[in-house]
Amino acid sequence: MNEPRIIVALDFNNAKQALNLAAQLDPQLCRLKIGKELFTATGPSLVEQLIRDGFDIFLDLKFHDIPNTVAGACKAAANMGVWMMNVHALGGKKMLLAAREAVPPGAAKLIAVTLLTSMGPDDLDDIGLHEEPEQVVRRLAILTENCGLDGVVCSALETAGLRQHVNSNFKLVTPGIRLENDNHGDQKRVTTPSAAVKNGADYLVIGRPVTQSPDPLCILRQLNHTVQNESVVSPRDS
Ligand code: C5P
Repeated sequence: MNEPRIIVALDFNNAKQALNLAAQLDPQLCRLKIGKELFTATGPSLVEQLIRDGFDIFLDLKFHDIPNTVAGACKAAANMGVWMMNVHALGGKKMLLAAREAVPPGAAKLIAVTLLTSMGPDDLDDIGLHEEPEQVVRRLAILTENCGLDGVVCSALETAGLRQHVNSNFKLVTPGIRLENDNHGDQKRVTTPSAAVKNGADYLVIGRPVTQSPDPLCILRQLNHTVQNESVVSPRDS
């Protein structure tokens, strides 16, 4: 059995709904992502419960603070036993290095958010970043890799371009995934699972297509089938 590459986003505001969904899934087929809303509502006990149930947890709290504080937060997350956690690359080199030192390679996967996909060129101008989003994402991904982190979160539309600038073992984690006939919801820049894999995504973060489905396990099986049968298209092939 290959390691699961689908990470289901548990975007709920209470433990009951999250546990109910998790009970319909299979730790052999997916990992689970717990973000700010669910973690703030439920605290570490839910994380620990889901780990006991056999799931790998991606704790998506996007730490962004002074290096000492981020290092402490990362250490606390690692102590909970999570599989993956993240920080904001915009926190800068010293913060990224402090996070890596707090969570040594192999302890838990430590990745960084480059730019939030909700930020467009106008938003970047507002904060003094006068570049295209793709350039900012590339610069921050290279900084993240140079600081020894394990990967970045990025849009699947950016993965093909990024793959040429980072090593093959640097993980690209991509949200914004929709099946052909899915409702896009509030996501604007979406990709199908097979396109994401072809573009070089390592892990696919998928929320509503699974969580809102009447049969989450069936959708998850379909997604795994697609992901396992797709291969990366190298820039020379495309
Ligand atoms: O329901 P959906 O598949 O859109 O959920 C995507 C998940 O990925 C959500 O938890 C969302 O917060 C997260 N995410 C995202 N875009 C980013 C980073 C995280 O959609 N750039």
